[in-house]
Amino acid sequence: AITRHYKFEIKLQNVTRLCHTKSIVTVNGQFPGPRIIAREGDRLLIKVVNHVQNNISIHWHGIRQLQTGWADGPAYVTQCPIQTGQSYVYNYTIVGQRGTLFWHAHISWLRSTVYGPIVILPKRGVPYPFTKPFNEVPIIFGEWWNADPEAVISQALQTGGGPNVSDAYTINGLPGPLYNCSAKDTFKLKVKPGKTYLLRLINAALNDQLFFSIANHTLKVVEADAIYVKPFDTDTILISPGQTTNVLLKTKPKFPNATFLMTARPYVTGLGTFDNSTVAGILEYEFLSKAPHSKLPMKKLQLFKPTLPALNDTASATKFTSKLRSLANAQFPANVPQKVDKHFFFTIGLGTNPCQRNKTCQGPTNATRFSASVNNISFALPTTALLQAHFSGQSNGVYSPDFPTRPLIPFNYTGNPPNNTNVNNGTKLVVLPFNTSVELVMQDTSILGAESHPLHLHGFNFFVVGRGFGNFDPNSDPAKYNLVDPIERNTVNVPSGGWVAIRFLADNPGVWFMHCHLEVHTSWGLRMAWLVLDGKLPNQKLLPPPADLPKC
Ligand code: C2O
Repeated sequence: AITRHYKFEIKLQNVTRLCHTKSIVTVNGQFPGPRIIAREGDRLLIKVVNHVQNNISIHWHGIRQLQTGWADGPAYVTQCPIQTGQSYVYNYTIVGQRGTLFWHAHISWLRSTVYGPIVILPKRGVPYPFTKPFNEVPIIFGEWWNADPEAVISQALQTGGGPNVSDAYTINGLPGPLYNCSAKDTFKLKVKPGKTYLLRLINAALNDQLFFSIANHTLKVVEADAIYVKPFDTDTILISPGQTTNVLLKTKPKFPNATFLMTARPYVTGLGTFDNSTVAGILEYEFLSKAPHSKLPMKKLQLFKPTLPALNDTASATKFTSKLRSLANAQFPANVPQKVDKHFFFTIGLGTNPCQRNKTCQGPTNATRFSASVNNISFALPTTALLQAHFSGQSNGVYSPDFPTRPLIPFNYTGNPPNNTNVNNGTKLVVLPFNTSVELVMQDTSILGAESHPLHLHGFNFFVVGRGFGNFDPNSDPAKYNLVDPIERNTVNVPSGGWVAIRFLADNPGVWFMHCHLEVHTSWGLRMAWLVLDGKLPNQKLLPPPADLPKC
């Protein structure tokens, strides 16, 4: 294992897409940002220098950050933001993880332009548990906004709702030929016939789960959220914001007389206006003949387009999700907690009420604007960092350690809007002793309409032991849990009008954010945090904060 140094200069850069040029916040002037590459066991020292007017912080999404919560990145959770002219070195070691993850800004909506891939190779000499690929390619999905996303978010917060619709989806920053004024901005993957390629798919879009497919090619899923899975073949991938999926693409044995589009389009079940447009890239077989250019059969090439599921095709989404299983073998065991110390039940949903910024509010019927909540608490970020408040013993007035505060009055979560769901805002944490084994059931509510929410937990991987539609039934559903080879990941979809059950071991001391990775829902308050206390042994304690940790 080695130490790898990176420098991230946060600066403005003019970028043109869809014939709109605008100045965006970038890392090192690149959009998408630079790739971080490391091996399992390596230490990373990433110096982030802020040259722009916005405050910034960077999150290393999916990296466990064992004992190094100070390097996790969410603003006002584990650190104060890096202010203009200041810098901070993110310092962490990659323990027991390999695969594809990504990094992104974790403040306001800056992650719309500030993001990039993290590729963690296995330790030297350790092979993949699948065919060695001829080549590896990160494919990172994003969104392009002709408007300034910071203006879009402030509108979404002030008026409730607001245009959370971007102007295009992108593949590696490029919208592709199906958008106006965009054909020249198309991602092209050049391949040779008869080879295996590892595509590292990352959904860095702000607000949409995506279906993805490559025309006339089958994809073999081998990894999700940097965890190996039992390989399976599929035509279509479903990938949520915050998720990563590695697939093997086997190219056709001979040069085909065709080029193939790869496309992605959203999967949405909620209310509102959504961008149902399609991003496309091109899979192009390299023609190896030495014939003069004019003789090449390129002009005759056919163009094949994949067929993607419809916008609200929950059946296709469920079919894909239910195939995901951990590898769960001797080399890569699934350490599913078999006994549970603490059970939690969280309702996850949108409601309409005025408490996003006001102290008191009435629940959904006295509505003036949107909010979102976990167990009827719309989480408010403090003005200092939660982790610092905890570490220095000065939590008074910053957070209260009493989440979930009140017993949830059960209602028909997936039925008609109930009248007992008053939402308050608050900054409340769940406190867990070190090594607590946790089971958490997250139930989507239909207060404003059922919707699939990709919930992301910082600092941990969890096992998805159960999922279903309708209301969770504590008497019959747990008997159906998969405690043998459930998928292990850091971001899971709470199904639209359904529930999901996860288990994890709280073996990482610190304050860990959990939120919907649809950025507009996070902003409306669909977020909360866990505080895991130190254990007794030295390697069970949060390390002291680094000297350059930013101040608020
Ligand atoms: Cu990828 Cu809290 O985020």
